[in-house]
Amino acid sequence: MKIFLDTANIDEIRKAFSLGVLDGVTTNPSLAAKENKNFDQLVKEILEVFKGTDGIVNLEVVSEKADDMTREGLKLANISKNVVVKIPCIEEGLKACKILSKAKVRVNVTLCFSASQALLAAKNGAYFISPFIGRLDDQNDNGMRVVEEIKKIYMNYSFKTQILVASVRTARQVVEAAVIGADVCTVPYGVFEKLYKHPLTDIGQKKFLEDWYSYKARFR
Ligand code: G3P
Repeated sequence: MKIFLDTANIDEIRKAFSLGVLDGVTTNPSLAAKENKNFDQLVKEILEVFKGTDGIVNLEVVSEKADDMTREGLKLANISKNVVVKIPCIEEGLKACKILSKAKVRVNVTLCFSASQALLAAKNGAYFISPFIGRLDDQNDNGMRVVEEIKKIYMNYSFKTQILVASVRTARQVVEAAVIGADVCTVPYGVFEKLYKHPLTDIGQKKFLEDWYSYKARFR
């Protein structure tokens, strides 16, 4: 399963990338708005991190009509081969998804909250579908259940659309996504750290080093 970072913060992206396990980034207008620099500069810096790799940088359109979304999507896709274009799962977005996918632009259909939305996105050639599991859970729904349904549907009909689990709140959800067989999980930096940090690892490592240096001291 690929791991993406769900942020537009360049410091977080650089830190996560340095571990060697990061496969890409998802941004959205809200995440971009948290940063204190213009969007072009933001995109340039993020793409620089993934230069020379297959890393994926998801950039979202903000147009509202299919024609405008298509134009905007083509413009974003032309910035770099690493860019995947995010399109919201609304009527106009589904139309734009079909046009862009036919033009060989990779589309991530975002703001997905149901398996039926995922089915239509796949029929229109989406490269990724992004179910927002945390926001579903926030509504007392079951986000992971939707991911399971999407996985089953895509397997039933051999859709190539990849499932990108988004709106992730915990490291446990990343494990659950992997157990289901999701293709990608995008996580905020706090969750990314929790994927590898464990208190027992820290305690164990501290003890190993203490024991090692006391042993070395005995034979100085
Ligand atoms: O890519 C954004 C998506 O993951 C939403 O996350 O935490 O705003 O529900 P959140």
